[in-house]
Amino acid sequence: MPATILVGAQWGDEGKGRAVDWLASSANIVARYSGGDNAGHTVFVRNQLFKLHLLPSGILHQQTLGLLGSGMVINPLRLVEELDQLAGMGVHITPERLAISTRAHIITPAHIALDGASEKALGSQAIGTTQRGIGPAYIDKASRRGIRAGEMADVENFAEALEAALERGSRALKNMALEPLPAHAQVAAYVHAAKRLSPYLRDTVQLINEALSRGGQVLCEGAQGTLLDLDHGSYPFVTSSSATAGGALTGLGFGPKYVERVVGVAKAFSTRVGGGPLPTELSGALGDRLRGTGENFWDEFGTTTGRPRRCGWLDGVMLRYAAAVNGLTELIVTKLDILTGFDELKIAVGYKVGGQRYDYPPATLAELEHAQPVYESFSGWRDDVRRARDFGDLPRAARDYVRRIGEICATPVRAVSVGPEREQLVLL
Ligand code: GDP
Ligand code: IMO
Ligand code: MG
Repeated sequence: MPATILVGAQWGDEGKGRAVDWLASSANIVARYSGGDNAGHTVFVRNQLFKLHLLPSGILHQQTLGLLGSGMVINPLRLVEELDQLAGMGVHITPERLAISTRAHIITPAHIALDGASEKALGSQAIGTTQRGIGPAYIDKASRRGIRAGEMADVENFAEALEAALERGSRALKNMALEPLPAHAQVAAYVHAAKRLSPYLRDTVQLINEALSRGGQVLCEGAQGTLLDLDHGSYPFVTSSSATAGGALTGLGFGPKYVERVVGVAKAFSTRVGGGPLPTELSGALGDRLRGTGENFWDEFGTTTGRPRRCGWLDGVMLRYAAAVNGLTELIVTKLDILTGFDELKIAVGYKVGGQRYDYPPATLAELEHAQPVYESFSGWRDDVRRARDFGDLPRAARDYVRRIGEICATPVRAVSVGPEREQLVLL
């Protein structure tokens, strides 16, 4: 049973990139299954900083085949840009190293314009999207009028389909009393990108199933996080795709019989970028301290948009929920080093809403917005943990904190990361 699914257990940016980089050393295929370039996955290896938006983080290992699955929405211009950027850093991705699903959907300039327009129309209720056109692209997919990546192989038809999509987008913008798109907006650039990307197009369903049936190791790289999942997140403050473990099966097209491990990645505290409830949010000095100043690349500023992330105590209620929704078999806890130096740490283990106690998050936005966390307190630690490599190297208070995380969500913690570098990992 050779498939491992890796998912974000919180609101995204849990450190999935660095966790994938660790697990990918034994993978044959590393596959993204949902979302698009709204993701920003950071990997820091051999003093090089990689920020990946569409390509799977595991592609940095020479032996892996990267795969962009059918459940994704792909902006061809951004993908070409990312391939060029990597080439500039000495990583050349040939068609032998990357497969793009012919069934994935294309993000057009109309989707990006409509994403911006609908956010503007929402005013103070805006989702705070990454403005990459993700929502509108999935709307077109569900409305059965999307353009699929396979169409790039026939550039003339692709250009025609794109023109039609732009016209439709312009009409929608006009209906919102907004400027239509410029005539032929970026069609030439899209055609150019289509020619570049055509050699990478593959039937990835066949490819992945053949690999799995031969006993190949497939690592499914989740994007976003459980609480941003369209079905299971804090709707409507979610993304438009299935970010949870089930999304790996539908987004890649293989069956559950192959799944051996479901790895959840959780930051040692909470962060969220964009709108929506964050019950354990800390404003003021504690929140600022968790966020960092932005001087370090690992500080809490969005990898994709640069926006400051909202920060708070670890939310065990959400983690318990994430363990259930995804069927987590194990957990990787990241950024433990950031908690060094706090006198006291807190983890939410329940909520109170109007006098009622909750062990799982309530489903409605109104209830979530009024959820009062019930906290457990922990002693902090002062010793630097960044050089720890065995669990025993961690200060006792840090060990207690990590153990309690595993207990709260009844999921064993398999690894703790104590810094952004590949080696800064404590294995349990
Ligand atoms: P992703 O979207 O889940 O891949 O996460 P991001 O890359 O958006 O954000 C995580 C940030 O935390 C990145 O800058 C990582 O380099 C950094 N990071 C990951 N693990 C650790 C850790 O254990 N300690 C520190 N200090 N930084 C970490
Ligand atoms: P990674 O993979 C954190 C958030 C946006 C917004 C909401 C909807 O790096 O963890 P969208 O553009 O998807 O329509 O925005 O989801 N969001 C993320 N937050 N990490 C991400 O990806 C995110 N991708 C989307 O901020 O609140
Ligand atoms: Mg990110």
